[in-house]
Amino acid sequence: MQEDIHPTEFKVSQAIRVQSLGQRPRLLWFTGLSGSGKSTLANGVEYALHQMGFHTYLLDGDNIRTGLNKDLTFSETDRVENIRRIGEVSRLMLDAGLIVLSAFISPFISDREIIKNLVGAENYLEVFVDCPLEVCEQRDVKGLYQKARKGLIKDFTGIGSPYEAPPNPFMVIKTAEDQLEDSIKNIVQAIQPIINR
Ligand code: ADX
Repeated sequence: MQEDIHPTEFKVSQAIRVQSLGQRPRLLWFTGLSGSGKSTLANGVEYALHQMGFHTYLLDGDNIRTGLNKDLTFSETDRVENIRRIGEVSRLMLDAGLIVLSAFISPFISDREIIKNLVGAENYLEVFVDCPLEVCEQRDVKGLYQKARKGLIKDFTGIGSPYEAPPNPFMVIKTAEDQLEDSIKNIVQAIQPIINR
């Protein structure tokens, strides 16, 4: 039972870890349609931060949906659980002192609100990877849009399942209009003063 769980106060606190890592842990949350470019952007930003000496970790479908969350489908209930677990993992990683980058469709405003409240609004930086559905569908990197249009994937985001755009994100990146390298630079520039100690 939850009421029988009493957390121990550990000697090595987040404050101590932050001190030795020399950075302010933050969660950079990339949200957007499938094929909008979330992973590519997160990958580029993580690489740039790493080059600058920051300690980072990137969470995305590849390392989460094939491992921790491999029991989850794309039903609405499972998507909510997907994001809840990612939020909890992000929270632990922030506690470890890392700069965490998360790239998931995370289609529902209410789930993203939960993440924000879980990690603290001041630690949550939402990046809306804004790309029109038509462009994502044209790119169709994984051939999934075509499958969804044929009715082979019934709850595909943007087609059989909704995507709720963030009303008030930290940043908006238009991947159909802007160059990748410029977008990476813009994100790094915007977060650098926030994550620097
Ligand atoms: S989320 O909606 O639960 O946040 P998540 O980011 O983990 O989604 O995974 C999305 C990726 O899973 C897509 O980029 C796509 O490759 C794949 N995928 C498989 N089925 C679906 C589906 N029904 N809807 C969206 N993405 C799907």
